Amino acid sequence: MAKDNSKSSTVSAQPRLYQRANEIQTYGTVTHFPPLELDEPTRLEMTAQLNQLLADTITLRDLYKKSHWQVAGPTFYQLHLLFDKHFAEQVELVDSIAERIQLLGGVSIAMAADVAEVTQIERPPRGREEVPVQLSRLLDAHQIIIRQSRPLARRASEIGDDGTNDLVVSEVLRTNELQVWFLSEHLVDVPLVEAKLASAGAA
Ligand SMILES: [Fe+2]
Repeated sequence: MAKDNSKSSTVSAQPRLYQRANEIQTYGTVTHFPPLELDEPTRLEMTAQLNQLLADTITLRDLYKKSHWQVAGPTFYQLHLLFDKHFAEQVELVDSIAERIQLLGGVSIAMAADVAEVTQIERPPRGREEVPVQLSRLLDAHQIIIRQSRPLARRASEIGDDGTNDLVVSEVLRTNELQVWFLSEHLVDVPLVEAKLASAGAA
């Protein structure tokens, strides 16, 4: 019997819109055989921990943009710029962590609603807050990320995932440590114009 090609051979410039289908991989799983010489339990454990780190890093990234937009006061200009610099660096980290999860055969958490359910960082109000509160929230978020980074890096090394160890130490930890320094110095209460204790002999 001749094959009926009338349907499949129809040529049309019409885009196929409104398509949906089943997922091709469920969140929380890893694919079976990427040739990485890392067994499935190792990749499952690492992708789970990296997804926690990713959810927290996405949240910190967004907290930086919120702070960049909403900052107020005499330090507006320098903090507006600093917050955006740190935001851009966190964007890079988000991409590195997410792509590490994918290359290990996992599925990266991505959307805001899912991230909100997973992150350990406290949700800030929608409205604007004072600079010291903005800085404190950012520092708390950094602390949460740093607290999980060192044990994660050590565990990765222990079970043979050197790539994850390198990513977490060289990129995530080092970037977060540096950003903590830049923020913390803004919370040191030093005089702007006149020293508090005039030295002997001063007029
Ligand atoms: Fe901006």
